Amino acid sequence: MRESRLGDAVNRQTKVAIIGAGPAGLMLAHLLTRAGIETVIFERHTRSYVENRIRAGILEYEVAALLRETGVGVRMDEVGFRHDGTNILFDGALHRLDFGALGKHVMLYSQHEVVRDLIAARLVAGGEIMFEAEVNAIENFNQGKPRICYRINGEAAELDCEIVAACDGFHGIGRASLPANLVREYDREYPFGWLGILAEAPPSMDELIYAHHDHGFALLSMRSASVSRLYLQCPLDADLAEWPDSRIWDELSTRLAHPGFSLTTGPIFQKNITPMRSYVAEPMQAGRLFLAGDAAHIVPPTGAKGLNAAVADAVILARAIEAEILTDDPAPLQNYTQTCLARIWKIERFSWLMTSMLHCFDDHSAFDRRIQRAELDYYVNTPTGRTSLIENYVGLPIEGV
Ligand code: APR
Ligand code: PHB
Repeated sequence: MRESRLGDAVNRQTKVAIIGAGPAGLMLAHLLTRAGIETVIFERHTRSYVENRIRAGILEYEVAALLRETGVGVRMDEVGFRHDGTNILFDGALHRLDFGALGKHVMLYSQHEVVRDLIAARLVAGGEIMFEAEVNAIENFNQGKPRICYRINGEAAELDCEIVAACDGFHGIGRASLPANLVREYDREYPFGWLGILAEAPPSMDELIYAHHDHGFALLSMRSASVSRLYLQCPLDADLAEWPDSRIWDELSTRLAHPGFSLTTGPIFQKNITPMRSYVAEPMQAGRLFLAGDAAHIVPPTGAKGLNAAVADAVILARAIEAEILTDDPAPLQNYTQTCLARIWKIERFSWLMTSMLHCFDDHSAFDRRIQRAELDYYVNTPTGRTSLIENYVGLPIEGV
Protein backbone atom coordinates (compact mmCIF):
# COMPACT_ATOMS: atom_id res chain seq x y z
CA MET A 1 0.00 0.00 0.00
CA ARG A 2 1.43 3.36 -1.03
CA GLU A 3 -0.55 6.14 0.55
CA SER A 4 2.43 8.44 0.58
CA ARG A 5 2.53 11.74 2.40
CA LEU A 6 6.22 12.26 1.73
CA GLY A 7 7.57 12.31 -1.81
CA ASP A 8 9.88 9.30 -1.71
CA ALA A 9 12.26 10.73 -4.32
CA VAL A 10 12.78 14.17 -5.76
CA ASN A 11 12.97 13.33 -9.46
CA ARG A 12 10.74 10.52 -10.54
CA GLN A 13 8.75 9.42 -13.52
CA THR A 14 5.55 7.68 -14.49
CA LYS A 15 3.40 7.15 -17.59
CA VAL A 16 0.35 9.20 -16.58
CA ALA A 17 0.38 11.91 -13.92
CA ILE A 18 -3.10 12.56 -12.58
CA ILE A 19 -3.86 15.76 -10.71
CA GLY A 20 -6.81 15.38 -8.32
CA ALA A 21 -8.30 12.51 -6.30
CA GLY A 22 -11.94 13.31 -7.08
CA PRO A 23 -14.18 10.95 -9.08
CA ALA A 24 -12.51 11.82 -12.42
CA GLY A 25 -8.90 11.29 -11.27
CA LEU A 26 -9.63 8.19 -9.21
CA MET A 27 -11.69 6.52 -11.94
CA LEU A 28 -9.06 7.29 -14.57
CA ALA A 29 -6.34 5.79 -12.35
CA HIS A 30 -8.52 2.76 -11.62
CA LEU A 31 -9.12 2.03 -15.32
CA LEU A 32 -5.49 2.60 -16.33
CA THR A 33 -4.22 0.38 -13.52
CA ARG A 34 -6.51 -2.39 -14.77
CA ALA A 35 -4.97 -1.93 -18.21
CA GLY A 36 -1.46 -2.22 -16.72
CA ILE A 37 -0.55 1.46 -17.22
CA GLU A 38 1.36 3.15 -14.41
CA THR A 39 -0.09 6.31 -12.86
CA VAL A 40 0.62 8.64 -9.95
CA ILE A 41 -2.16 10.73 -8.37
CA PHE A 42 -1.48 14.09 -6.73
CA GLU A 43 -4.07 15.39 -4.29
CA ARG A 44 -3.66 18.65 -2.40
CA HIS A 45 -6.01 17.65 0.43
CA THR A 46 -5.85 14.85 3.00
CA ARG A 47 -7.43 11.46 2.43
CA SER A 48 -9.97 12.15 5.15
CA TYR A 49 -10.95 15.46 3.52
CA VAL A 50 -11.71 13.95 0.10
CA GLU A 51 -13.44 10.94 1.64
CA ASN A 52 -15.84 13.12 3.60
CA ARG A 53 -16.65 15.85 1.06
CA ILE A 54 -20.45 15.83 0.74
CA ARG A 55 -21.73 16.05 -2.82
CA ALA A 56 -24.65 14.69 -4.86
CA GLY A 57 -25.48 11.03 -5.06
CA ILE A 58 -27.20 9.71 -8.16
CA LEU A 59 -25.22 7.29 -10.33
CA GLU A 60 -26.37 6.81 -13.90
CA TYR A 61 -27.11 3.28 -15.11
CA GLU A 62 -23.86 2.88 -17.06
CA VAL A 63 -21.75 4.45 -14.33
CA ALA A 64 -23.17 2.02 -11.76
CA ALA A 65 -22.56 -0.85 -14.20
CA LEU A 66 -18.97 0.31 -14.71
CA LEU A 67 -18.33 0.31 -10.96
CA ARG A 68 -19.67 -3.25 -10.75
CA GLU A 69 -17.76 -4.50 -13.81
CA THR A 70 -14.47 -3.09 -12.57
CA GLY A 71 -14.79 -4.49 -9.05
CA VAL A 72 -15.72 -1.33 -7.12
CA GLY A 73 -19.50 -1.77 -6.93
CA VAL A 74 -19.85 -4.09 -3.95
CA ARG A 75 -20.58 -1.48 -1.26
CA MET A 76 -22.79 0.45 -3.69
CA ASP A 77 -24.97 -2.63 -4.09
CA GLU A 78 -24.90 -3.33 -0.35
CA VAL A 79 -25.74 0.08 1.06
CA GLY A 80 -26.89 2.12 -1.95
CA PHE A 81 -30.47 2.23 -3.18
CA ARG A 82 -31.65 1.20 -6.61
CA HIS A 83 -34.21 3.66 -7.99
CA ASP A 84 -36.44 2.55 -10.84
CA GLY A 85 -38.15 5.89 -11.23
CA THR A 86 -38.23 9.54 -10.21
CA ASN A 87 -40.98 12.10 -9.73
CA ILE A 88 -41.80 15.54 -11.04
CA LEU A 89 -44.31 17.62 -9.10
CA PHE A 90 -46.11 20.69 -10.42
CA ASP A 91 -49.54 22.23 -9.92
CA GLY A 92 -49.83 19.97 -6.87
CA ALA A 93 -49.81 16.78 -9.01
CA LEU A 94 -47.07 14.15 -8.84
CA HIS A 95 -45.90 12.59 -12.12
CA ARG A 96 -43.77 9.44 -11.91
CA LEU A 97 -41.16 8.76 -14.57
CA ASP A 98 -40.69 5.01 -14.77
CA PHE A 99 -37.14 4.11 -15.82
CA GLY A 100 -38.27 0.53 -16.41
CA ALA A 101 -39.72 1.81 -19.68
CA LEU A 102 -36.09 1.84 -20.90
CA GLY A 103 -35.04 -1.21 -18.88
CA LYS A 104 -32.71 0.89 -16.74
CA HIS A 105 -32.29 2.21 -13.20
CA VAL A 106 -30.05 4.63 -11.29
CA MET A 107 -28.26 4.05 -7.98
CA LEU A 108 -28.55 6.43 -5.06
CA TYR A 109 -25.06 6.27 -3.55
CA SER A 110 -23.12 9.32 -2.37
CA GLN A 111 -20.17 10.65 -4.29
CA HIS A 112 -17.92 10.49 -1.22
CA GLU A 113 -18.70 6.77 -0.92
CA VAL A 114 -17.63 6.25 -4.54
CA VAL A 115 -14.44 8.16 -3.73
CA ARG A 116 -13.81 5.93 -0.69
CA ASP A 117 -14.30 2.77 -2.75
CA LEU A 118 -11.96 3.96 -5.51
CA ILE A 119 -9.26 5.00 -3.02
CA ALA A 120 -9.49 1.64 -1.25
CA ALA A 121 -9.24 -0.24 -4.57
CA ARG A 122 -6.23 1.79 -5.64
CA LEU A 123 -4.35 1.20 -2.44
CA VAL A 124 -5.10 -2.53 -2.55
CA ALA A 125 -3.78 -2.62 -6.14
CA GLY A 126 -0.53 -1.02 -4.93
CA GLY A 127 -1.19 2.26 -6.77
CA GLU A 128 0.09 5.55 -5.44
CA ILE A 129 -1.86 8.55 -4.20
CA MET A 130 0.19 11.44 -2.90
CA PHE A 131 -2.10 13.20 -0.46
CA GLU A 132 -1.26 16.73 0.66
CA ALA A 133 0.75 17.14 -2.54
CA GLU A 134 -0.07 20.36 -4.37
CA VAL A 135 0.84 20.68 -8.04
CA ASN A 136 2.04 24.21 -8.76
CA ALA A 137 3.21 23.94 -12.38
CA ILE A 138 2.75 21.69 -15.40
CA GLU A 139 5.74 22.21 -17.67
CA ASN A 140 6.63 21.22 -21.25
CA PHE A 141 3.32 19.58 -22.08
CA ASN A 142 3.47 21.21 -25.50
CA GLN A 143 6.95 19.86 -26.15
CA GLY A 144 5.90 16.27 -25.55
CA LYS A 145 7.86 15.84 -22.27
CA PRO A 146 5.56 16.95 -19.48
CA ARG A 147 6.90 17.62 -16.02
CA ILE A 148 4.82 18.06 -12.88
CA CYS A 149 6.19 20.45 -10.24
CA TYR A 150 4.64 19.96 -6.83
CA ARG A 151 5.13 20.56 -3.14
CA ILE A 152 4.82 17.91 -0.52
CA ASN A 153 5.58 18.27 3.16
CA GLY A 154 6.99 21.75 2.53
CA GLU A 155 9.44 20.53 -0.11
CA ALA A 156 9.49 21.07 -3.86
CA ALA A 157 9.67 17.99 -6.09
CA GLU A 158 9.21 17.05 -9.75
CA LEU A 159 7.86 14.14 -11.72
CA ASP A 160 8.34 13.45 -15.44
CA CYS A 161 5.59 11.71 -17.35
CA GLU A 162 4.21 11.06 -20.82
CA ILE A 163 0.69 12.32 -20.25
CA VAL A 164 -0.86 14.73 -17.74
CA ALA A 165 -4.52 14.29 -16.80
CA ALA A 166 -5.81 17.37 -15.03
CA CYS A 167 -8.74 16.04 -13.00
CA ASP A 168 -8.31 18.92 -10.61
CA GLY A 169 -11.78 20.42 -10.41
CA PHE A 170 -13.15 23.79 -11.42
CA HIS A 171 -10.41 25.87 -9.75
CA GLY A 172 -7.53 23.61 -10.74
CA ILE A 173 -4.22 24.37 -12.36
CA GLY A 174 -4.90 22.22 -15.45
CA ARG A 175 -7.30 24.52 -17.25
CA ALA A 176 -5.32 27.59 -16.13
CA SER A 177 -2.23 26.08 -17.80
CA LEU A 178 -3.83 25.87 -21.26
CA PRO A 179 -2.65 28.69 -23.56
CA ALA A 180 -5.18 31.52 -23.06
CA ASN A 181 -5.52 32.16 -26.78
CA LEU A 182 -6.53 28.54 -27.34
CA VAL A 183 -9.39 28.35 -24.85
CA ARG A 184 -12.96 29.43 -25.38
CA GLU A 185 -15.29 29.52 -22.37
CA TYR A 186 -19.07 29.14 -22.39
CA ASP A 187 -20.80 30.19 -19.23
CA ARG A 188 -24.20 30.71 -17.63
CA GLU A 189 -24.83 31.78 -14.06
CA TYR A 190 -28.32 31.29 -12.70
CA PRO A 191 -30.00 34.02 -10.62
CA PHE A 192 -30.63 31.77 -7.61
CA GLY A 193 -28.96 29.16 -5.41
CA TRP A 194 -29.88 25.96 -3.59
CA LEU A 195 -30.20 25.84 0.16
CA GLY A 196 -29.39 22.21 0.99
CA ILE A 197 -29.94 20.36 4.25
CA LEU A 198 -29.10 16.98 5.69
CA ALA A 199 -31.56 15.89 8.37
CA GLU A 200 -31.95 12.93 10.67
CA ALA A 201 -35.32 12.06 9.22
CA PRO A 202 -36.39 8.95 7.32
CA PRO A 203 -37.06 9.89 3.67
CA SER A 204 -40.72 10.85 3.13
CA MET A 205 -40.75 8.89 -0.15
CA ASP A 206 -38.69 6.02 -1.51
CA GLU A 207 -37.89 8.00 -4.68
CA LEU A 208 -36.82 11.57 -5.40
CA ILE A 209 -39.25 14.42 -6.00
CA TYR A 210 -38.30 17.38 -8.19
CA ALA A 211 -40.91 20.04 -7.43
CA HIS A 212 -41.84 23.20 -9.27
CA HIS A 213 -43.88 25.59 -7.12
CA ASP A 214 -44.76 29.29 -7.28
CA HIS A 215 -42.44 29.80 -4.28
CA GLY A 216 -39.60 28.15 -6.19
CA PHE A 217 -38.00 24.75 -6.77
CA ALA A 218 -37.66 22.05 -4.10
CA LEU A 219 -35.97 18.64 -4.20
CA LEU A 220 -36.54 15.70 -1.92
CA SER A 221 -33.63 13.27 -1.88
CA MET A 222 -32.04 10.99 0.68
CA ARG A 223 -28.79 9.48 1.90
CA SER A 224 -29.99 6.43 3.83
CA ALA A 225 -33.05 4.93 5.49
CA SER A 226 -32.64 7.47 8.30
CA VAL A 227 -31.14 10.55 6.60
CA SER A 228 -32.96 12.90 4.21
CA ARG A 229 -31.28 15.31 1.81
CA LEU A 230 -33.51 18.21 0.80
CA TYR A 231 -33.02 21.38 -1.20
CA LEU A 232 -34.87 24.69 -1.69
CA GLN A 233 -34.35 27.28 -4.40
CA CYS A 234 -33.26 30.45 -2.60
CA PRO A 235 -32.03 33.93 -3.57
CA LEU A 236 -28.33 34.08 -4.44
CA ASP A 237 -27.67 36.43 -1.54
CA ALA A 238 -29.69 34.34 0.96
CA ASP A 239 -28.26 34.35 4.46
CA LEU A 240 -28.45 31.08 6.41
CA ALA A 241 -29.16 33.12 9.55
CA GLU A 242 -32.53 33.98 7.98
CA TRP A 243 -33.33 30.31 7.48
CA PRO A 244 -34.02 28.78 10.90
CA ASP A 245 -35.01 25.11 10.78
CA SER A 246 -38.73 25.88 11.20
CA ARG A 247 -38.73 28.13 8.14
CA ILE A 248 -36.94 25.49 6.06
CA TRP A 249 -39.41 22.76 7.02
CA ASP A 250 -42.43 25.06 6.41
CA GLU A 251 -41.14 25.98 2.99
CA LEU A 252 -40.34 22.37 2.06
CA SER A 253 -43.83 21.26 3.18
CA THR A 254 -45.43 23.95 1.04
CA ARG A 255 -43.38 23.28 -2.07
CA LEU A 256 -43.57 19.47 -1.86
CA ALA A 257 -47.28 19.27 -0.91
CA HIS A 258 -49.49 16.90 -2.91
CA PRO A 259 -52.33 14.52 -2.04
CA GLY A 260 -51.39 11.77 0.39
CA PHE A 261 -47.94 13.21 1.12
CA SER A 262 -46.60 14.26 4.49
CA LEU A 263 -43.07 15.47 5.03
CA THR A 264 -41.03 13.66 7.68
CA THR A 265 -38.95 16.15 9.66
CA GLY A 266 -36.08 15.73 12.10
CA PRO A 267 -32.93 17.44 13.41
CA ILE A 268 -31.03 19.26 10.67
CA PHE A 269 -27.30 18.59 11.01
CA GLN A 270 -25.98 20.37 7.93
CA LYS A 271 -27.05 23.46 5.97
CA ASN A 272 -25.36 25.07 3.01
CA ILE A 273 -26.08 27.36 0.07
CA THR A 274 -24.64 26.60 -3.37
CA PRO A 275 -24.70 28.80 -6.46
CA MET A 276 -25.78 27.32 -9.80
CA ARG A 277 -23.68 27.53 -12.90
CA SER A 278 -23.21 25.97 -16.34
CA TYR A 279 -19.69 26.17 -17.80
CA VAL A 280 -17.69 24.53 -20.59
CA ALA A 281 -14.09 25.20 -21.64
CA GLU A 282 -13.03 24.15 -25.13
CA PRO A 283 -10.75 22.47 -26.07
CA MET A 284 -10.16 19.94 -23.29
CA GLN A 285 -6.56 19.28 -24.34
CA ALA A 286 -3.30 20.87 -25.47
CA GLY A 287 -0.21 18.87 -26.37
CA ARG A 288 0.12 16.12 -23.74
CA LEU A 289 -2.24 17.78 -21.22
CA PHE A 290 -5.85 16.58 -20.98
CA LEU A 291 -8.67 17.92 -18.79
CA ALA A 292 -11.40 15.73 -17.31
CA GLY A 293 -14.45 16.40 -15.12
CA ASP A 294 -15.09 19.71 -13.36
CA ALA A 295 -11.72 20.97 -14.65
CA ALA A 296 -13.37 21.36 -18.06
CA HIS A 297 -17.09 21.72 -17.39
CA ILE A 298 -19.65 22.14 -14.65
CA VAL A 299 -23.42 21.83 -14.56
CA PRO A 300 -26.07 23.08 -12.15
CA PRO A 301 -27.04 20.20 -9.80
CA THR A 302 -30.60 19.76 -11.14
CA GLY A 303 -30.39 16.25 -12.57
CA ALA A 304 -27.24 15.26 -10.63
CA LYS A 305 -24.94 15.04 -13.64
CA GLY A 306 -21.63 16.39 -12.22
CA LEU A 307 -20.17 13.10 -10.97
CA ASN A 308 -21.50 11.15 -13.94
CA ALA A 309 -19.99 13.57 -16.44
CA ALA A 310 -16.64 13.37 -14.65
CA VAL A 311 -16.66 9.56 -14.74
CA ALA A 312 -17.60 9.52 -18.45
CA ASP A 313 -14.62 11.76 -19.29
CA ALA A 314 -12.38 9.42 -17.31
CA VAL A 315 -13.64 6.42 -19.29
CA ILE A 316 -13.11 8.17 -22.63
CA LEU A 317 -9.65 9.36 -21.60
CA ALA A 318 -8.62 5.95 -20.26
CA ARG A 319 -9.66 4.23 -23.50
CA ALA A 320 -7.79 6.83 -25.55
CA ILE A 321 -4.60 6.49 -23.46
CA GLU A 322 -4.83 2.71 -23.70
CA ALA A 323 -5.17 2.95 -27.50
CA GLU A 324 -2.01 5.06 -27.72
CA ILE A 325 0.14 3.18 -25.24
CA LEU A 326 -1.02 -0.39 -25.83
CA THR A 327 -1.95 -0.43 -29.53
CA ASP A 328 0.00 2.51 -30.91
CA ASP A 329 -3.16 4.24 -32.12
CA PRO A 330 -2.94 7.99 -31.45
CA ALA A 331 -6.32 8.89 -32.98
CA PRO A 332 -8.61 8.52 -29.91
CA LEU A 333 -6.32 10.76 -27.85
CA GLN A 334 -6.13 13.31 -30.66
CA ASN A 335 -9.95 13.27 -30.83
CA TYR A 336 -10.46 13.33 -27.04
CA THR A 337 -12.00 16.82 -26.90
CA GLN A 338 -14.36 16.10 -29.75
CA THR A 339 -15.51 12.77 -28.29
CA CYS A 340 -16.12 14.27 -24.84
CA LEU A 341 -17.79 17.45 -25.98
CA ALA A 342 -20.38 15.68 -28.12
CA ARG A 343 -21.62 14.11 -24.90
CA ILE A 344 -20.91 16.99 -22.55
CA TRP A 345 -23.02 19.48 -24.47
CA LYS A 346 -25.98 17.09 -24.28
CA ILE A 347 -25.46 16.87 -20.51
CA GLU A 348 -25.19 20.67 -20.33
CA ARG A 349 -28.43 20.91 -22.31
CA PHE A 350 -30.24 18.48 -20.01
CA SER A 351 -29.01 20.14 -16.80
CA TRP A 352 -29.96 23.55 -18.20
CA LEU A 353 -33.38 22.21 -19.25
CA MET A 354 -34.12 20.73 -15.81
CA THR A 355 -32.95 23.95 -14.16
CA SER A 356 -34.95 26.23 -16.48
CA MET A 357 -38.07 24.10 -16.36
CA LEU A 358 -38.24 23.63 -12.59
CA HIS A 359 -37.10 26.92 -11.04
CA CYS A 360 -38.83 30.30 -10.73
CA PHE A 361 -37.17 33.22 -12.49
CA ASP A 362 -37.86 36.78 -11.23
CA ASP A 363 -37.63 38.20 -14.75
CA HIS A 364 -40.13 35.79 -16.28
CA SER A 365 -43.08 37.42 -18.04
CA ALA A 366 -46.56 35.87 -17.98
CA PHE A 367 -45.71 34.48 -21.44
CA ASP A 368 -42.48 32.89 -20.15
CA ARG A 369 -44.40 31.25 -17.31
CA ARG A 370 -46.94 29.74 -19.72
CA ILE A 371 -44.13 28.38 -21.88
CA GLN A 372 -42.47 26.89 -18.80
CA ARG A 373 -45.74 25.20 -17.83
CA ALA A 374 -46.14 23.82 -21.37
CA GLU A 375 -42.61 22.48 -21.21
CA LEU A 376 -43.29 20.65 -17.93
CA ASP A 377 -46.51 19.29 -19.38
CA TYR A 378 -44.72 18.13 -22.54
CA TYR A 379 -41.88 16.40 -20.69
CA VAL A 380 -44.06 14.52 -18.22
CA ASN A 381 -47.28 13.96 -20.14
CA THR A 382 -46.29 13.02 -23.69
CA PRO A 383 -44.61 9.69 -24.53
CA THR A 384 -41.82 11.36 -26.48
CA GLY A 385 -41.17 14.00 -23.82
CA ARG A 386 -41.16 11.43 -21.04
CA THR A 387 -38.83 9.06 -22.90
CA SER A 388 -36.43 11.90 -23.59
CA LEU A 389 -36.37 12.96 -19.93
CA ILE A 390 -35.84 9.38 -18.71
CA GLU A 391 -33.17 8.66 -21.33
CA ASN A 392 -31.14 11.66 -20.20
CA TYR A 393 -31.76 11.11 -16.48
CA VAL A 394 -30.58 7.49 -16.49
CA GLY A 395 -27.64 8.62 -18.63
CA LEU A 396 -26.70 8.74 -22.28
CA PRO A 397 -24.32 6.03 -23.48
CA ILE A 398 -20.76 6.89 -22.53
CA GLU A 399 -19.42 6.40 -26.02
CA GLY A 400 -21.07 6.42 -29.38
CA VAL A 401 -23.44 9.35 -28.74
N1 APR B 1 -2.79 19.84 -6.81
C1 APR B 1 -3.32 18.69 -6.31
N2 APR B 1 -4.65 18.47 -6.24
C2 APR B 1 -5.49 19.41 -6.69
C3 APR B 1 -5.00 20.63 -7.23
C4 APR B 1 -3.58 20.83 -7.28
N3 APR B 1 -3.05 21.95 -7.78
N4 APR B 1 -6.08 21.39 -7.60
C5 APR B 1 -7.18 20.67 -7.30
N5 APR B 1 -6.84 19.48 -6.75
C6 APR B 1 -7.77 18.42 -6.31
C7 APR B 1 -8.86 18.91 -5.38
O1 APR B 1 -8.43 19.00 -4.04
C8 APR B 1 -9.93 17.85 -5.60
O2 APR B 1 -9.85 16.82 -4.64
O3 APR B 1 -8.47 17.93 -7.43
C9 APR B 1 -9.66 17.30 -6.97
C10 APR B 1 -10.78 17.55 -7.95
O4 APR B 1 -11.89 16.77 -7.59
P1 APR B 1 -13.42 17.22 -7.83
O5 APR B 1 -13.58 18.66 -7.51
O6 APR B 1 -14.27 16.24 -7.11
O7 APR B 1 -13.60 17.10 -9.42
P2 APR B 1 -13.95 15.87 -10.36
O8 APR B 1 -13.14 14.67 -10.05
O9 APR B 1 -13.95 16.44 -11.74
O10 APR B 1 -15.44 15.48 -9.97
C11 APR B 1 -16.54 16.25 -10.29
O11 APR B 1 -17.30 16.72 -8.11
O12 APR B 1 -17.66 19.02 -7.82
C12 APR B 1 -18.25 17.79 -7.92
O13 APR B 1 -20.43 18.13 -8.75
C13 APR B 1 -19.11 17.81 -9.09
O14 APR B 1 -19.89 15.68 -8.88
C14 APR B 1 -18.97 16.46 -9.59
C15 APR B 1 -17.61 16.01 -9.28
C1 PHB C 1 -28.67 14.72 -3.90
O1 PHB C 1 -29.14 13.71 -3.37
O2 PHB C 1 -27.82 15.42 -3.34
C2 PHB C 1 -29.15 15.13 -5.25
C3 PHB C 1 -30.02 14.29 -5.93
C4 PHB C 1 -30.49 14.67 -7.17
C5 PHB C 1 -30.09 15.87 -7.73
C6 PHB C 1 -29.20 16.71 -7.06
C7 PHB C 1 -28.73 16.33 -5.80
O3 PHB C 1 -30.58 16.23 -8.94
